[in-house]
Amino acid sequence: MEKHQMVEEYLGGLGYALRRPQGLYAPVDYVLQEGGKRLRPVLCLMACELFGGDEKAALPVAAGLEVFHNFTLLHDDIMDNADMRRGKPTVHKVWDSNTAILSGDAMLIEAYKLVSEAPAALLSEVTGIFSTTATGVCEGQQYDMDFERRDVVALSEYIEMIRLKTAVLLAGALKIGAVLAGASDEDCQRLYDYGINLGIAFQLRDDYLDTFGNPEVFGKKLGGDIACGKKNYLLTKAFEILPPHDMAELKKWMEIDGRDEEKIAAVTGIYRRNDIGKLCEDAVSEYCDKALSALSAVEGNVNSTGELAALVAKLQTRQV
Ligand code: IPE
Ligand code: IPE
Ligand code: MG
Ligand code: MG
Ligand code: MG
Repeated sequence: MEKHQMVEEYLGGLGYALRRPQGLYAPVDYVLQEGGKRLRPVLCLMACELFGGDEKAALPVAAGLEVFHNFTLLHDDIMDNADMRRGKPTVHKVWDSNTAILSGDAMLIEAYKLVSEAPAALLSEVTGIFSTTATGVCEGQQYDMDFERRDVVALSEYIEMIRLKTAVLLAGALKIGAVLAGASDEDCQRLYDYGINLGIAFQLRDDYLDTFGNPEVFGKKLGGDIACGKKNYLLTKAFEILPPHDMAELKKWMEIDGRDEEKIAAVTGIYRRNDIGKLCEDAVSEYCDKALSALSAVEGNVNSTGELAALVAKLQTRQV
């Protein structure tokens, strides 16, 4: 069976729709329904296969990573004031913020339970990687929030922020899959490096899509990052390279709270005039190349390294 399908079936079997109190679990069921790419569990299973491990045994752990990811989305959508995700209203819009906070908390705990289904001999190593990863995501999310309030963020600070908020989870998923398959420390580290670079490219592409995505398929509201003054790649790069006139206009808009639609149109115009989208795509390519070069050092099953290389190409131009 395809990995994506395995994950989908496993998540469906967790039965959150029937658990009580419904007020706690209905939002968990809602967010875990089909629609996500399931990238993190699929990466975990790919890494497991790469080193000849038992994918079925890795499945609960892989699913735990997806539950964790979905927990971060519930809280992230409150923090980013986002109304839409995967083409549907966000949990804090359908219910309210208190619900999204508590259901998110329950999901973090559920994620730990699933990750703890790792074989006993590997349990402490796997939960250790998971905990380090989860702490990294929180640190990244705090930098992301801090940066919204700062006037200037250097590109190096931005990259470190997305390494934490996004890339460590992709890399951690791969490393856990490799550990479950008994890979060497060196190979685990090489695969982790692949995951970090892939994850940075993934978040850069997410930043690109937030402004330049196709609204029919993207599933989130276009311009959400502009509206909340998020120091994503586009804004960070723009602050670095804009000529004085556009720089003054961009700063003026960044000081305005509200007037979202006007602000999104004006800032998107500034980005377009200055080819900021193209510069973002170039940065995506740069990190995709780094991911491929890390991958070339991994000594696993050749078929699976081919799949991991193909994934880089697929994510580089993704629309969703
Ligand atoms: C969204 O992750 C959060 C980011 C790290 C950009 P995904 O783009 O993997 O979201 P789903 O799970 O496929 O919806
Ligand atoms: C996502 O960053 C990082 C985490 C959820 C931890 P974003 O805030 O850019 O993700 P989206 O765009 O809402 O999916
Ligand atoms: Mg966010
Ligand atoms: Mg967000
Ligand atoms: Mg985003």
